[in-house]
Amino acid sequence: MRKVKIAPSILSANFAKLGEDVKLAECGGADYIHIDVMDGHFVPNITIGPQVVKSLSNETSIPLDVHLMIENPEFFIDDFIAAGSDLLSIHLEACRHLHRVIQKIKSYPNIKVGVALNPATALTNLVNVLSEIDFVLIMSVNPGLGGQELIPQMIDKIKFLKNIIRERNLPVEIEVDGGIDANNAKKIFEAGADILVAGSSVFCKGDVKKAITDLREATTG
Ligand code: DX5
Ligand code: ZN
Repeated sequence: MRKVKIAPSILSANFAKLGEDVKLAECGGADYIHIDVMDGHFVPNITIGPQVVKSLSNETSIPLDVHLMIENPEFFIDDFIAAGSDLLSIHLEACRHLHRVIQKIKSYPNIKVGVALNPATALTNLVNVLSEIDFVLIMSVNPGLGGQELIPQMIDKIKFLKNIIRERNLPVEIEVDGGIDANNAKKIFEAGADILVAGSSVFCKGDVKKAITDLREATTG
């Protein structure tokens, strides 16, 4: 039986009380804390850097899932790993030498490496590195903002990817990020997602623990 993992995205948390919100997610049963790093170039928004990741790593013991939405991520990998990242994803579209960047992350022990794909990016661009990575992050919205609607065509993209992973018998997980709530979580899980990232549906509803439980139960109900 597959079991879903829930990764609340702190993009929708209260930035003045980040440590408290991360604790709420931890106590609410989150599997990972998803941290969105944006540089104002790869995406039209700016968020946080390695210092905040380091501070949060002192606040929680659950793994930190750091999603780099930045150009030239190779220049910042050392810093984000030193800051305490446990999972690190880079965007395929941001890497001219994707295989090399993956190898750089893999040179560190105990880090899970992921490749993220924007909604318009084809899976064909991924197949040559699929055996090298731990997870694929399928963006189900255009990256840069929380609170957007899931793009429906991404369900088929998840199914196609799941088939490729199964056919090749690879231990690669699928993480899906953007527009996920308790109404669509089951469809996304059944399409093949292993990890659901959720920002606004976890942090904007008032009860973080209930929101995480609702998401998890939606996948089994
Ligand atoms: C968007 C980020 C997401 C975002 C998801 O660029 O990568 O992690 O926080 O937010 P929701 O769940 O509100 O769509
Ligand atoms: Zn994200």
